[in-house]
Amino acid sequence: MQTWLKEKSTSTQACCNTMISLEEFHLIRDYIQKHCGIHLTEDKVYLVETRLTTLMIEHGFKTFGELYSKAVSDNTNTLRDKVIEAITTNETFWFRDLHPFGILNEVLFNKFAEEIVSGNRTKIKIWCCACSTGQEPYSIAMTYLDYLRKNPSLSPDHIEILATDISSTVLFLGKLGRYDSLAISRGLSDEFKDRYFDKGEKVWSIKDNVKRMVKFQKLNLQESFSHLGRHDIIFCRNILIYFSTEFKQDILQRIAALLQPNGYLFLGASESIIMYTDQYDMMRHAMGLYYQVK
Ligand SMILES: C[S@@+](CC[C@H](N)C(=O)[O-])C[C@H]1O[C@@H](n2cnc3c(N)ncnc32)[C@H](O)[C@@H]1O
Repeated sequence: MQTWLKEKSTSTQACCNTMISLEEFHLIRDYIQKHCGIHLTEDKVYLVETRLTTLMIEHGFKTFGELYSKAVSDNTNTLRDKVIEAITTNETFWFRDLHPFGILNEVLFNKFAEEIVSGNRTKIKIWCCACSTGQEPYSIAMTYLDYLRKNPSLSPDHIEILATDISSTVLFLGKLGRYDSLAISRGLSDEFKDRYFDKGEKVWSIKDNVKRMVKFQKLNLQESFSHLGRHDIIFCRNILIYFSTEFKQDILQRIAALLQPNGYLFLGASESIIMYTDQYDMMRHAMGLYYQVK
């Protein structure tokens, strides 16, 4: 081992006990569920330990119990937000699962375009409720811009894309719209890369015309979101899997209330609503599934 590495790991051990007790795990698990809805089963002890260790080192806490007490008594919520940031999984990539974007392009944009052209609607409103670093809402924006190339009767003014997340860090990165070569390589075709990004030395920046189409905003799904107003399409993808059954039911019910009559919901490829609600009809297009509120 390099000498500096040995010194670093020794000082980490000196600063904190990175083994979590079962009691500490239960306290932190309940705290996390209360503040962001993420439900951690007992096989996730290692996850809490590994994800919170950096925070322990940063603050010089000696035990997980100390981290918990400080978070509970911190009136500024700074530590609470750091715990949430550390525990959330922000994995995302461009055009994830492909089908939702094919369904927008081949089915839903056509339907809404007809209504706009015939004067029966003015806008298409889409909400991405756990947007991470922006790949999902920007993929929707690029899908729409591509659709406009074949349908010039519509314009970017006919769509509103709202992207929300609980994490300030991912929202900051999404708003920035700058991606390194690894992030940019995940799911994006060369054609879209060239058309919708400016290439710097090591960083790709999303073009202003795409960036302008997405509004980012902080929102915890545990809190009321009725103030966002009715939406035509909601993307709630790869987030329900982290929540308890009760919280899944609650969110799906509140999303149904936020959707316009006959509005649409997209979930992640491994997620389903079947066990949680009967408020939606399942729809199919090609190999993709989506849901329409009844
Ligand atoms: C795995 S990412 C999914 C990103 C994107 N939807 C996708 O499918 O690629 C999950 C996101 O949900 C966010 N999240 C976790 N709990 C949340 C909550 N209670 N309210 C809002 N966002 C939350 C996380 O910060 C993270 O960015």
